Amino acid sequence: MSTCQQGENKVTSNFGRDAHAHVIAIEPYYLSTGNEIELFEASYDARLPVMLKGLTGCGKTRFVEYMAYRLKRPLITISCHEDLFASDLLGRYLLMHEETVWVDGPLTQAVRMGAICYLDEIVEARKDTTVVIHPLSDNRRTLSIDKKGEIIRAHPDFLLVISYNPGYQSVLKDLKQSTRQRFVSMSFTYPEMEKEAAIVSHEGCIDAETAMRLVGLAHRVRNIREHGLAEGASTRLLIYAAQLMNRGISAKDACKIAVCLPLTDDEKLQETLDELITDIFYD
Ligand SMILES: Nc1ncnc2c1ncn2[C@@H]1O[C@H](COP(=O)(O)OP(=O)(O)OP(=O)(O)O)[C@@H](O)[C@H]1O
Ligand SMILES: [Mg+2]
Repeated sequence: MSTCQQGENKVTSNFGRDAHAHVIAIEPYYLSTGNEIELFEASYDARLPVMLKGLTGCGKTRFVEYMAYRLKRPLITISCHEDLFASDLLGRYLLMHEETVWVDGPLTQAVRMGAICYLDEIVEARKDTTVVIHPLSDNRRTLSIDKKGEIIRAHPDFLLVISYNPGYQSVLKDLKQSTRQRFVSMSFTYPEMEKEAAIVSHEGCIDAETAMRLVGLAHRVRNIREHGLAEGASTRLLIYAAQLMNRGISAKDACKIAVCLPLTDDEKLQETLDELITDIFYD
């Protein structure tokens, strides 16, 4: 079969017992903000690994959950951190009933069962993890488990997805070109105002008008970024504020503790943020 043929990579498997535990049964709420669903579906169809880039709290994780549901694939999410070694992904020998048994790590499980494996904040992981994901994210699609002397060919339905927040990286922690160039890359940013308000209203269970005011506040906060804020208020924080307001907390207090205080410790900036709140929630 030609490798250029479209739609050749149909989902093949019935779920095994292990996979069932990772299937998302209820459709996650996801409001599309562009053509990202179509792009991801095409990437999945071609089994091209995907890199999601974007600021914190702008919908990357929710999108992957939604796509896993839509594509009917199990989802295994791994949050990367500086103590995450390749062996944490691959698995290890454990002593059980005086016997040494091999236990697959989450990446190995995903590769065997044909899951979507989501490595969240990949740059945080130890360098040795890149050695593991390189052969998995090019046309070899293999995972090498040195400790067992085993090379696993990825299940045909397997897909690797990584996320990356370009805002946080220092030169030291940037992704290497040899890693970047194994992935197609999709960029996430805050949705346009009406859509963001619809998300905040849905997720925070508040009325459309209040949601729009919260988004208005976020816009103004995001505009003062150049004056000392590392990052603007995320959609996630707006939802927090909405959830507090929904429980009877005043708009001013909710915005202060959910939108403004988390952003900075700088007192001058806090004063500016307080003024923005009063400006928008004057009544
Ligand atoms: N397009 C969207 N549709 C539905 N909900 C959204 C959307 N974008 C953001 N959200 C909401 O915002 C919250 C934060 O989004 P999410 O956790 O996906 O962010 P993230 O980009 O993964 O952030 P981080 O980089 O910090 O992990 C979600 O729990 C969801 O409620
Ligand atoms: Mg996330």
